Amino acid sequence: MKTIKITRVCAVAVILLCLVNTKTHAQMEETKVDINQKVESLLSQMTIEEKVGQMNLYNGFWDVTGPAPEEGNAALKYDHLKKGWVGAMLTVRGAEEVRKVQRIAVEESRLGIPLLIGFDVIHGYKTLSPIPLAESASWDLQAIEKSARVAATEASASGINWTFAPMVDISRDARWGRVMEGAGEDPYLGSLIAKARVNGFQGDDLSAHNTIAACAKHFAAYGFAEAGRDYNVADIGNGTLYNTVLPPFKAASEAGVKTFMNSFNTLNGVPVTGSSFLQRDILKRDWNFDGFVVSDWASINEMIPWGHAKDKRQAAQIAANAGSDMDMEGYVYIQELAQLVKDGVVKESILDDAVRRILKVKFELGLFEDPYRYCDDDREKEWTYHESYREAVLDMAKKSIVLLKNDNHLLPLKKNGQTIALIGDLADDKSSPLGSWRIASDDDTAVSVLEGMSSYKGNTLNFSRGPEVFEGTSSFLQEVKINTTDTSGFDEAIATAKAADVVVMVLGEHGFQSGEGRSRTNLDLPGLQQELLEEVYKVNPNVVLVLNNGRPLAIEWASEHIPAIVEAWHLGTESGNAIANVLYGDYNPSGKLPMSFPRNVGQAPIYYNNYPTGRPTDKDGNVFWSHYTDVEKTPLYPFGHGLSYTTFEYSNLKVTNTYKENQEVKVSFTLKNTGALKGKEVAQLYIRDLVGSVIRPLKELKGFELIELEAGASKTVEFVLTKKELGFYTNQGEFVVESGDFKVFVGGDSNAELEQDFTLE
Ligand code: NOJ
Repeated sequence: MKTIKITRVCAVAVILLCLVNTKTHAQMEETKVDINQKVESLLSQMTIEEKVGQMNLYNGFWDVTGPAPEEGNAALKYDHLKKGWVGAMLTVRGAEEVRKVQRIAVEESRLGIPLLIGFDVIHGYKTLSPIPLAESASWDLQAIEKSARVAATEASASGINWTFAPMVDISRDARWGRVMEGAGEDPYLGSLIAKARVNGFQGDDLSAHNTIAACAKHFAAYGFAEAGRDYNVADIGNGTLYNTVLPPFKAASEAGVKTFMNSFNTLNGVPVTGSSFLQRDILKRDWNFDGFVVSDWASINEMIPWGHAKDKRQAAQIAANAGSDMDMEGYVYIQELAQLVKDGVVKESILDDAVRRILKVKFELGLFEDPYRYCDDDREKEWTYHESYREAVLDMAKKSIVLLKNDNHLLPLKKNGQTIALIGDLADDKSSPLGSWRIASDDDTAVSVLEGMSSYKGNTLNFSRGPEVFEGTSSFLQEVKINTTDTSGFDEAIATAKAADVVVMVLGEHGFQSGEGRSRTNLDLPGLQQELLEEVYKVNPNVVLVLNNGRPLAIEWASEHIPAIVEAWHLGTESGNAIANVLYGDYNPSGKLPMSFPRNVGQAPIYYNNYPTGRPTDKDGNVFWSHYTDVEKTPLYPFGHGLSYTTFEYSNLKVTNTYKENQEVKVSFTLKNTGALKGKEVAQLYIRDLVGSVIRPLKELKGFELIELEAGASKTVEFVLTKKELGFYTNQGEFVVESGDFKVFVGGDSNAELEQDFTLE
């Protein structure tokens, strides 16, 4: 680095330029050539050990986000930093701390190559947006992009230049705790959200001081962990791999994401960290991905207990050859790789390829121009918890809320003259709404529902906690302890409910009950909450249930009895204000579920785009058809479901089929706001390809539009279906459009019934 260091004055000029200019295409091409030359020049100066060093990612010194390895200690890390044997660090944060490690890498190592500083900026850095699953319920791509932009701005001011997000794993299994980090069950919606998040983090110009490199994770099929148990095997067919798992990753790659992370699972018997098929053939060859792949936390080592590598040496060999470019906190590359190259077992060209990719990202971030670009104390002071973020995360939180049920217009609440009972331990919680994955954020910084509702002064608000739901304090590292025995608080809650006109109950999961390592086999309300709900309902049936959760829950009893249910997820810093705004009708909800809600856990995995089966319906009144004997096979709330305080009607569906002439099928319909209020609707379009060489799902989302209409107003909505929407991947990974009969459906959820047929010739 010392040979190519650029002066500080020049660096400042570049920063200023970045602020006022977005680069033209020609300038970008020029930059690319320039970067390639610089990478080659630097690479030619590196020893094998220094190359391996670039492929080495160490965790910082305080926070951990995985099991602590035996090898890691601060002295070793500092020593390796000085030797130039560290390419990146994670969970070092704060301008000052980042500057310290960066200074060692840049000023004390032989070549002075700056570090990437990675962090799990999953739904915000300190100021928190709703968890990603909740954001996805907004179906509002601009808002989601903006949310990632806000997160990047705050994180980059604290020294971070690389986020381990977005997680683009499709998952159909609510038992898997990490569904909170993704965009739900659908590859079409998931792909658009992946792109929006990548654009939000990376912006137009990666070298600007407020944009950071993104990471599409976990490549691939991590969301298909068998039985919803985290870190388990994934055994899926090629049809599911190509049509469901891979599309959001491909979308992220096409959006220019700079890095990919592999994952802890196997795919059909091969740990994906050691999968050439995924990393080299699909990602780097077929998709032409020119960024780098980081392993997940020690996932290279984990090939040993998986039984795929006999020792670290073999694990390093398999992973490097398979295209895992960087080892996260595994100490395997740093211990084994140089020797493997010297022994001729791993070619040096494998290292060169990995290092080129890594250096390129560093150049693109502008780290060689100014390694301290992200470590400006003044900027950190100014942009941490910046007031403007609150508005942004409040807006995102309101958009993420899904109104599941609202009988007899119980909601919105009247603003005056009412006695409202607010019940539930979670109603007064300022930490849980922040959700999981919030390592940098401060505890108790969320607005609670109690605080949010208290700002509406026209009613009498009586809060009663009821029994405690959680025991002790909860953390990212430990299991959440649930109270299942201590019923104190029950009686007071029931008395408070009895004396009220309306009861608002805030129930659900703690923020730390979802996320990594948080699989559940029970999707009910934890602890004594179900009992409390039923007892309160007995004395006052006017109950509004506000759910806090990081995954779909099985709430069949509530759905049958409770008149109004609001899905409020874990909404982040402004949670309580967003919920209060919706409850009081200052915001008309428009969220739609990105995952199906099962009736009970036995239905998991359940998803809307499932297949017809050979025995789809009950023909003769006997048992010989595909069903359950004890519960409907349909979900409790389908994918795409969500109500508004107004109502919408779909009509006039027309299909203009010009596929033969210009390969387009045009679909149009009328959407009318038939209620008395202005509102937003996510109009959804699904198709079904009736006969395929590989069977096709009963419905597939292929278009949607978020539309706002005044009361009584209508709009003609138009979609165009092209090859991209009408085709699918065969089991060999080939994209085809097959002729034959199709159906198109439009509506406000995946049960959309307004349909038309068309035929592709
Ligand atoms: C393990 C998780 O699977 C991954 O998503 C995360 O980015 C890393 N740990 C780093 O914290």
